[in-house]
Parts: sequence; C-alpha cells; structure tokens
Amino acid sequence: MTMQLNARLRIGAPDELLLESADGRAEPLHPLWLRERCRDAVSMDLRTQQRLQDPSDFAPDLKVTALSQPAPGVFHVTFSDGHQASFSAADILAEAALAPGSHDCPAPRLWDGSLRDLPRVRWRSEPADDELRAWLESFLTLGFIIFEGVPSEPGMVLKVGAQFGFTRETNFGALFNVRSTPDANDLAYTSIALDAHTDNPYRTPVPGIQLLHCLVNQTSGGLSTLVDGFAVAQALRNREPEAFRILATTPVRFKYLDTDAELTASAPPIELDVTGELRAIHFSPRLDFVPLYPRAQLEAYYRARRLFDHSLRAPDFEIRFLLKDGDLVMFDNCRLLHGRSGFDPAEGLRHLQGCYIDIDGPRSLYRVLRRRRERAGELRRSA
Ligand code: OGA
Ligand code: ZN
Repeated sequence: MTMQLNARLRIGAPDELLLESADGRAEPLHPLWLRERCRDAVSMDLRTQQRLQDPSDFAPDLKVTALSQPAPGVFHVTFSDGHQASFSAADILAEAALAPGSHDCPAPRLWDGSLRDLPRVRWRSEPADDELRAWLESFLTLGFIIFEGVPSEPGMVLKVGAQFGFTRETNFGALFNVRSTPDANDLAYTSIALDAHTDNPYRTPVPGIQLLHCLVNQTSGGLSTLVDGFAVAQALRNREPEAFRILATTPVRFKYLDTDAELTASAPPIELDVTGELRAIHFSPRLDFVPLYPRAQLEAYYRARRLFDHSLRAPDFEIRFLLKDGDLVMFDNCRLLHGRSGFDPAEGLRHLQGCYIDIDGPRSLYRVLRRRRERAGELRRSA
C-alpha cells in the first residue's frame, strides 16, 4: 500500500514496538492488534489473506516477548504464545494511518455551484490502466464523471456500468428507459422538472451509483442538474448545527407504489456514520413523509428541511449542463443529488437509459489498479 505517512516504527523497550508520529509522540502497538495482522501461512490463508484463527481465541493478556529488526523496514516479533512473525513497516504504517471508517482511496473533494471544470472525458471501451485510474479519481473525489461519445445504442449504459461494478437490478429492470410516457410509473418518466433528489430512498440498501445515458435529446429543455449533497450538508452543519442535527436524527419514511411493488424505508435525510462523518443523503421531495411528532418537533423539522432543500435548489450549489446524444453521467447516489429541468415532448424525443451499480465497485477497481501498478513497479525494480 502506498500512502503519505508521517510516522515511523521503532523498537522501544525489548517488548514494545512503538508507533512514533511526526510530532514525536510514541505509542506502543497493542500486541493483539499486531498478532491479528500476522501474515504467515499458519496465521492466514496466503491466497485470500483471510485469517485462519479467530482473534478472540488469542490470550487476552498476550504480550510481545522479543523484538528485532533484521533488515530496514522489517520487524521480527515473538509473542508470548510462542508465535513468531515478520512485519513490513510499510504495511503496518499504512494500516495505522487508516482513520476509523475511512477508505484507502481518494477522499471526496466537496464542490459547489462555482465548479467550472466538469470532469468530461472521452469514453473508451478498453481504457488503459492510467486512463481508467484517472476516471476513477474524478469519480471518487467529485462524486461524478461525464463520458462523451458513448454510442447512442440501447443497452450501452449496462456496458459502461459493467466497467465499474455489478449492476443492481430493481423493479424498474436492470436498465430503465427515462422518457416521457403515458401512465408513467414514476415522475421521472414524464416531462416535468425534477428537483434535486437521490434515487430510490425507499429501497434498502439504496442503489449506490446511478448511470444515465442520453440516447437522444431533440428538445430544448431537459437540462441535467447535480448538487454535492455533502457540501450542502457541511454548510448546514457550520451555519445551522441544530437543523443539521435534526436532519441527521429524524427517521423519514420514503415510499414507492406500483402495481407489483410497494417499497418503504426509513432513513434520516442526512445519514452519518458511527464516527459522525457524512455517509449518505436521502432526499426526494416527491416521496418523503415525516412521522407524526409533537407539533414543536415538527415545526423544527420542517424548518430544517426547508433550509436544506432551499440550499439544495440554490444556484450557489447546483451545476446545470446538457447531456448531448452519446453523453453518459455516472454519479454517487449516496452523496450527490440530481434532477432535470422540464421539457416539451412536442419539440421532439428525449430518451435516456439508466441503470444502477453497487457503491463499492469503483473503490475496488481503484485498489486493484493500484496493486497492479505496485506489482509492476516491484518487478521493474527486481529486474
Ligand atoms: C431519474 C432521473 C433525470 C433526467 O431517472 O432518476 O432523475 O434527466 N432522471 O431525466
Ligand atoms: Zn432520479
């Protein structure tokens, strides 16, 4: 793993492997934390790197009994249960640097309506690793990417989706057609404007990533909108912490109804992870129903919802662009909200195809590419 590390490992006492941070503070690594990271053939299956022993079975008072550094960047450890293991300092430091709940992938870079350089790239069916990595970096930092030149053929959205992850099929099908139809089973399939929303908040889990491919737009309307929900939530947290708290703790009920489906799920409009960091936005003004709370509590909720919604719809946060024939936008449905302006079907056809893929596909692919690059680097160095 490559990572910017401002720490080092050193031997303190004969039984203490110390993690020393840049400011000189040193913490001994817990023996159990080290023991469960042993990477030898007794401790784990070498192919899968899955552990062969349940760490709860290690002695609770396990200790380090001997330490040595046979080579730079390598530590040899003997534990009180008799097990001996070698550790790469780089691996241990990379593990130690992972903040609780974080991913070892490019972190989100929040944006607002002043974002000018939209991540627009020419799509390719077989991108080189470097190009694919650049696409993934855009997607992971900004939460979206726009591909140009995706052939305007039905089904291409599934092909592009498969480059990044596994399709998430729903009651709308593996692929859904977004065009104005009579007797539509979703307002997306009409010509009305759609305010900023996340898709399918009534589903558990929600679809992580959405792709929309424009096959044709002959109308002058139907502009696409995107908003970085994390940026809006963060601004609310700074300006109106109480409103933020209410939206992060109110379980709103979302529901969807069709002849053969009745889906409901409860989620706070702003979902936090266990560390208090933003995890997902659940927001769709067409589908949300707050439970019946006492009047004062409802007043406070409606005020918070209004503040959030008005920011979500404000030009300060929104970007607006036209998807031309052959353009495809892929976005993080947990972080970004999307919408469109209305259009007049009498002007011509507007036909998009959409699909969902799971949220973790791009991060998995990013790590695979990184591993491949590191391995190639190692081979070059050893040649
Ligand atoms: C959708 C949707 C936007 C559009 O299908 O979920 O929001 O541009 N469509 O039609
Ligand atoms: Zn939508």
